[in-house]
Amino acid sequence: MAANNRANFGSKLGIILASAGSAVGLGNIWRFPYETGNHGGAAFILVYLGCVILLGLPIMISEFLIGRHSQASTGGAYSTLAPGTQWKWVGRIGVLTGFLILSYYSVVAGWTLEYILQAATNSFAGKSANDFIASFGAFSSNPWRPLVWLAVFLLATHFIVVKGVEKGIEKYSKLMMPALFVLLLILVVCAVTLPGANKGIEFLLAPDFSKVNGKVFLGAMGQAFFSLSLGMGCLGTYASYFGKNTNLAKTALSVSAIDTMVAILAGFIIFPAAFSVGIQPDTGPSLVFITLPNVFQQAFGGIPVLALILSVMFYVLLAVAAITSTISLHEVVTAYLHEQFKMTRKKAATFVTGSCIFLGIFCSLSLGKTKEYTLFGMGTFDLFDFATTKIMLPFGGLLISIFTGWYLSKKIVKEEITNQGTLKGSIYPYLIFILKYIAPVAISFILINELGFLE
Ligand code: PFF
Repeated sequence: MAANNRANFGSKLGIILASAGSAVGLGNIWRFPYETGNHGGAAFILVYLGCVILLGLPIMISEFLIGRHSQASTGGAYSTLAPGTQWKWVGRIGVLTGFLILSYYSVVAGWTLEYILQAATNSFAGKSANDFIASFGAFSSNPWRPLVWLAVFLLATHFIVVKGVEKGIEKYSKLMMPALFVLLLILVVCAVTLPGANKGIEFLLAPDFSKVNGKVFLGAMGQAFFSLSLGMGCLGTYASYFGKNTNLAKTALSVSAIDTMVAILAGFIIFPAAFSVGIQPDTGPSLVFITLPNVFQQAFGGIPVLALILSVMFYVLLAVAAITSTISLHEVVTAYLHEQFKMTRKKAATFVTGSCIFLGIFCSLSLGKTKEYTLFGMGTFDLFDFATTKIMLPFGGLLISIFTGWYLSKKIVKEEITNQGTLKGSIYPYLIFILKYIAPVAISFILINELGFLE
């Protein structure tokens, strides 16, 4: 009995950590803080939390049940559950979204490798906030250095996807995820005790509702989908490997809670640190790469070895958090090409890696050398981020909620939520109500309301 319980717990933890590995990534520590900074702070966080609870959780449960019931990756799940219909496009759009996200996400993931190197060679020592701003600018606009890191990062992802070392990754995540969490807690303590940090804490805790407009809703909704890995079938693909007795609702709750906690902790590091040295919270994508090295210097500059160890550790863990996410993105596209076009897994993965390096080069250069080439006022990097996070993921989420709420047989939904009647499933009526009405209306409203500003 005891042995049984332990085995069960072990597998549950594995499932939660694999999904959390996909969810927790640059979205939490890099993107969440700068989106919060761009949208005015605390009020954005409240809208974000609303989006996680009202849209994220139900759609995550939907993706889980679609994946587990179809026993197929997202590319094939809809053809299995709705044969002969156009629902297959939900899977296809998801694959395209994953492909585009992987291209620009890997650029930032590559930056983490540069920062590991810089931290390890003690390049942060003795630098001021302005030096960090200047050195990030010089690095990100350098025509070749970020490209090398981009390629290295994508090749590392490729190697793991091709080898299919799922067990290795799972074991690795079990060690690295808690380590990341502990390190984040240490950094929170350091950041909030910096002189002048209270302005940053206020920025995070005192909502200014006059700043809430349509863009805040679009930003928060997009961030929720991105951070929770939702809207493109990524978690659905993982759920096709879940066991029959995995409690889908509970798993979704754990993954969302872990993901949200990591994002909030990142906020409590970045903003106190940024305010303490007078860096504007709306600095954008460079925010983490400027404020964090500065925290290490300010907080531990007196003990250089400690500053060095903690900063190397932080960027290593950030890279690990990123790679568990890039693997999940890569896997969605590779599995699709492998299954639908009968390519070998290796060929499919090579195609994905090669094309993402190619597109990633354009994304990276658009932050420096080719800055002046824009579409809708955005360079390639910003355009990919905007199109995927603020349009394609929410649109995918909209279709997923309609699919589960309106199309899929209620018997299937109920069976999956209650594990064939063995669980209570008291959330079932709420889930259906949200998926049928609330989520489609809210997502459509935000999308329709906001896409006007593209002109
Ligand atoms: N959730 C990841 C992050 O927050 O970094 C990014 C991501 C992974 C988005 C997988 C979408 C996805 F399917």
